[in-house]
Amino acid sequence: MLLHLKNLLTADELAQGRALLMAADAPWIDGRRSAGEQAVHVKNNQQLVQDSASAATLRELVLGALKRDPLLFSAALPKKIFNPLFNRYGDAANYYGAHVDGAVLHSRASNQWVRTDVSCTLFFSHPDEYDGGELLVHDTYGEQRVKLAAGDAVLYPGTSVHEVRPVTRGARLGSFLWIESMVRSDERRRLLFEMDMALLALRQRHGESAEATRLTGVYHNLLRQWADT
Ligand code: NI
Repeated sequence: MLLHLKNLLTADELAQGRALLMAADAPWIDGRRSAGEQAVHVKNNQQLVQDSASAATLRELVLGALKRDPLLFSAALPKKIFNPLFNRYGDAANYYGAHVDGAVLHSRASNQWVRTDVSCTLFFSHPDEYDGGELLVHDTYGEQRVKLAAGDAVLYPGTSVHEVRPVTRGARLGSFLWIESMVRSDERRRLLFEMDMALLALRQRHGESAEATRLTGVYHNLLRQWADT
């Protein structure tokens, strides 16, 4: 499932994040230093040094936004969130070819292993600031092209082959991270999300009812069956 999260960041957060990422002294390094064996051959971008002060501020900013978003919670049912990382595509380091992310990754900031059930990309550049740079996700329904407004994010399955197309003008600044879900199966998460969204719409249209309460009970009892906390 691909899910577009609109305005994940507030205007203030976006402005603060952009100022840090666009600062002349922002500590960018070769992104290949953090790539796995398969990915290193196709990766050509830059990443912000994880131990830097700006990365620490940005991490808190993104984590705060992720944790308050109800749609993200419903879709991803997060158990652990990998520390958000930041990348830049532009100039000579401008693409990331087709690859798969590691199934379990070690998060340095929180010193824990995270299973990569759900991937997230958050856009810090406005789409008119760069050409190319689309995120291509190859899923069961074919190839999806994603290029979103600054401050918006996309969730996509961690199991998918994906790539970032070459940036041919300007620069694409973004954050990326992974979520380990309480519900491991993509299919089950999708069913729960569908039901949650349908219940929300049902209540908006008809208000509270005994049937809506019973269905909410079914949702929670399914989650109880499937969740691993
Ligand atoms: Ni990736």
